[in-house]
Amino acid sequence: MNDLSLHERAQHVLPAGGFGNFDPSIMIASGDGAYVEAADGTRYIDYLIGSGPMILGHGHPEVLDAVHSQLDKGMTFFANNPAGIALAEEIISAVPSAEQLRYVSSGGEADMYAMRLARAYTGRDKILKFEGGYHGMSAEAQMSLAPAQLVNFPAPVPDSAGIPQTVSDEMLIAPFNDEAFVESLVAEYADEIACIIVEPLQRLIPPAPGFLACLRKLCDKHGILLVFDEVVTGFRFDYGGAQTLYGVTPDITTLGKIIGGGFPLAALVASSDIMAHFDKAKVGAEGFLMQLGTLSGNPVASVAGLKTLEILRRPGTYETLRSTGQRLMDMMHENLRDVGIPHQIVGDPTLFDVVFTEHDVRNYRDVKSSNAAQTAIFNKVLRENGILKSPGKLYAHLAITETELDMTNAAAARAAKAVAEMPN
Ligand SMILES: Cc1ncc(COP(=O)(O)O)c(C=O)c1O
Repeated sequence: MNDLSLHERAQHVLPAGGFGNFDPSIMIASGDGAYVEAADGTRYIDYLIGSGPMILGHGHPEVLDAVHSQLDKGMTFFANNPAGIALAEEIISAVPSAEQLRYVSSGGEADMYAMRLARAYTGRDKILKFEGGYHGMSAEAQMSLAPAQLVNFPAPVPDSAGIPQTVSDEMLIAPFNDEAFVESLVAEYADEIACIIVEPLQRLIPPAPGFLACLRKLCDKHGILLVFDEVVTGFRFDYGGAQTLYGVTPDITTLGKIIGGGFPLAALVASSDIMAHFDKAKVGAEGFLMQLGTLSGNPVASVAGLKTLEILRRPGTYETLRSTGQRLMDMMHENLRDVGIPHQIVGDPTLFDVVFTEHDVRNYRDVKSSNAAQTAIFNKVLRENGILKSPGKLYAHLAITETELDMTNAAAARAAKAVAEMPN
């Protein structure tokens, strides 16, 4: 068996040869600061950063120290522990919508419980979700995440096999950034909707001015809970997340990625009134929402998260992150403009990508109608020139220095030229 390459071994033991997350042709052996190194020795500037958590870069020495000292004290207890309590306190002090917190192990789990919590709190079943919005892998979240077939709203399209029709029956799907549509949908189903779940910046697409405030108003008017999925944006857009940056406070917030400092940890937070549904003594057996998990509040993840948050709180950190991201955005734009390729740079300086289209990008269908062949070539040539990114996103982070910016600019120039030279 060991005479086989790692890729061949992966083909034997993993369906589709991978973990399901990312292009299995790449095998990352290690990470250090702004870089990852593949098993074949190729080094990449890492803009994937573990799909978001490694905002400080890989192997930050202070985080490593915190983790090492916790390892000596124990790796997991299942019980309350000081590190988990301290992290909960810090998150609650940072996030405007948070009074209490419940830990889980992944962002998708946090979203699943957020939707269940909204159902428990309101006594209603329907969930309004946006087409293209990503909320993990629960049955509800797998509705119209990446529908191949574009149907009339608000009908959902399941993205996965194995989901019963009864789940589809309780989902309402709307186009992101379309206030008029959401208003009419909510008017029609007002008394049945438990929550509107939304990524405040959907994948890459910023909310149109007033869109999140409109959702807040509609929810208040009809007794619907507003759920912000801040698994990506939490502690990235600002120390208080997208809700601080955009000035709209949801009822329930889900968090993941950065709060675990690279370890499996996620959470949902809300007011004490809403979170009471996790406390049988407060709501009784009828209203109680059972929730537990072996690794919830894991102390190693908690100390890594706490140290990461402490570093993020230092003066100037978010300014540095945003200015690095803005320079990356500008260099992508300038290189493509110089070779005359129509495109949009879509996102926030902390997280964005190039979308190959002449048109404004306001929703999933706008992204879907972009030029897939140009996207593929651009990403391929970036990779060949030492840039690792997700096919649909580039994460700015704090380990990027002038050296990496220069190297990225050179790679972007080559990728832009390759797009310009594509046969029609
Ligand atoms: C907005 C959003 N929500 C939820 C999730 C799911 O988080 P996890 O992969 O930790 O389950 C992700 C993952 O990328 C995400 O981007």
